[in-house]
Amino acid sequence: MAFRNILQTYAAPDWIRKSLSNIPRYRVQLGNLDTPIHKWNLPDVPEGFEVYIKRDDMTGSTLSGNKVRKLEFLLADAISRGCCHVITCGAIQSNHCRATAIAAAQLGLKTHLVLRADLQSTAGVGCQGNVLLDRLCGAAIYVVPNNMCYKTGLLPRMERIAQHIKQETGEESYLIPVGGSDGVGLYGYLEGFNELLTQGVPEQFDDIVFACGSGGTADGLALGNYLTKSKLKIHGVTVSDNRQYFLSQTAELLTQLRMEEVKAADIMDLIDGYKGQGYALSTPQELGEFYLLSYCRW
Ligand SMILES: Cc1ncc(COP(=O)(O)O)c(C=O)c1O
Repeated sequence: MAFRNILQTYAAPDWIRKSLSNIPRYRVQLGNLDTPIHKWNLPDVPEGFEVYIKRDDMTGSTLSGNKVRKLEFLLADAISRGCCHVITCGAIQSNHCRATAIAAAQLGLKTHLVLRADLQSTAGVGCQGNVLLDRLCGAAIYVVPNNMCYKTGLLPRMERIAQHIKQETGEESYLIPVGGSDGVGLYGYLEGFNELLTQGVPEQFDDIVFACGSGGTADGLALGNYLTKSKLKIHGVTVSDNRQYFLSQTAELLTQLRMEEVKAADIMDLIDGYKGQGYALSTPQELGEFYLLSYCRW
């Protein structure tokens, strides 16, 4: 049984309360927040520019990264609705799925992961990296073909798992989409934007640049920037899917929020063309450059 007493009442900042309805009632604390911001001495930064980094890799050692912020709201929602199971999906080595499995185990929820893999190769599934961590957390794993798309494949599969659990145990399941990017997970990066406000970011910076994998980080930051009338430019570099896909996903979210008058392309800049070999794939040369960069810093 999940730990209901871990739920904290969520008090949204004024700028969120004034503009949005359906605000989550609860949050759980998973991350070490606020994360620091510090100067990043990258090579080849053009003269007149400075780069700083928001250290969301420091949100927590086992959970780490941006997923934690969304899970604080998603798992609170699951617990408050009396769900005992969490079902989510992603690529075989998905960081979101690993973070969900760890956080859910901490909170007394059982996790089910629908993972896309190259079924032609057993090495494609295996028991290493995040899959090993998923299994150590007791997550049930369901492997599906790599090309299965969310709306027509993954979502119906998650719904069937939820039905099966209900029939077998009578227990309810909570479904989380790819990357935790939905109207509840959104609050992770609306709050993330609020953290940037308290750190004085809009006064000190011009641009925010980040990876756009499932779109939730982009949505939270872009909406936060828009709703607070801040003047930052929000740039997401697509690492899966493409600009058009994310713009239509954000348009759907804006409709859900009854903000149809806002155009996704007016509040965020999405940049294609930097995927290299593809999502989660690196060349030896790219890894070599990374090590060289790390080495040079010290
Ligand atoms: C470090 C980092 N930043 C950003 C993202 C993208 O986040 P989102 O899935 O919210 O688009 C990811 C995941 O893909 C990530 O690992």
